[in-house]
Amino acid sequence: TRPLKVALLGCGVVGSEVARIMTTHADDLAARIGAPVELAGVAVRRPDRVREGIDPGLVTTDATALVKRGDIDVVVEVIGGIEPARSLITTAFEHGASVVSANKALLAQDGAALHAAAEEHDKDLYYEAAVAGAIPLIRPLRESLAGDKVNRVLGIVNGTTNFILDKMDSTGAGYQEALDEATALGYAEADPTADVEGFDAAAKAAILAGIAFHSRVRLDDVYREGMTEVTAADFASAKNMGCTIKLLAICERAQDGESVTARVHPAMIPLSHPLASVRGAYNAVFVESDASGQLMFYGPGAGGSPTASAVLGDLVAVCRNRLSGATGPGESAYAALPVSGMGDVVTRY
Ligand code: HSE
Repeated sequence: TRPLKVALLGCGVVGSEVARIMTTHADDLAARIGAPVELAGVAVRRPDRVREGIDPGLVTTDATALVKRGDIDVVVEVIGGIEPARSLITTAFEHGASVVSANKALLAQDGAALHAAAEEHDKDLYYEAAVAGAIPLIRPLRESLAGDKVNRVLGIVNGTTNFILDKMDSTGAGYQEALDEATALGYAEADPTADVEGFDAAAKAAILAGIAFHSRVRLDDVYREGMTEVTAADFASAKNMGCTIKLLAICERAQDGESVTARVHPAMIPLSHPLASVRGAYNAVFVESDASGQLMFYGPGAGGSPTASAVLGDLVAVCRNRLSGATGPGESAYAALPVSGMGDVVTRY
């Protein structure tokens, strides 16, 4: 069987781990896919920064030429951000490749258009790594639960803020002190705005709501409130009520079933709720649906290896589809339930 050719766009923390696993697990991957997978090119902005172990002959700064080659089976996009990622992905579809992406910002903003482009060219678009790192969520919601009716998705989908809130809860520290520790330990970025103001969680909420309710939800549709104003006193009050405080992404089907809401804000949850026990920088997503009842998905939501695990899983699925001539669920799976306001602000548990 001919090898399947993979182009890697981006070779940072996630990309270099994807390349490493593709090499070290090559035999296993070939066995699971039914054909060998070959790294055919690696596009980077700074070739001098490419880590050891990557064949320098594969490295290029011309990502556009790489996706236009025409012999690439799968493009793995781990650059992040809107452009040039969006143009590269659409160019990849036009030139015959399927795409695995870890790009939450892009999927939250332009998921519908990208799905449409994939469908137009009869190609796959998979993005398990875009939400909550290693935790399988997109495919369980899109495929395993496709015969069920999901009513609510409640998630801790940002590790940095969960670390900060957990620290405040367990030590009585204030927000700034807990943020400083998160920064010192490398969880929080130098500019933590995207995490602490809830933008990162809102992008993930948009993606989850779209998938869970077979609808189209964009970042702009998500009500968003960060956690910078949560105080040590709030935790003391929550504790008195047998609760803790988490930054939750809450995606719900309206009672009448006619619309969908998605929102991100700090919320009190009873200590008896499984999400209350999610500590440190871990993520967890709690799903309520008609037939399955309650499900919880838990694990590391960030980091090179966990995110690479999700990318590799998608790569295997897309390569298998490629060999069988099938494609995964596409844009037509989206029935477009409208998105309405911010819904019921008082959360019921
Ligand atoms: N900044 C994100 C987090 C990284 O803290 O969860 C994963 O998207």
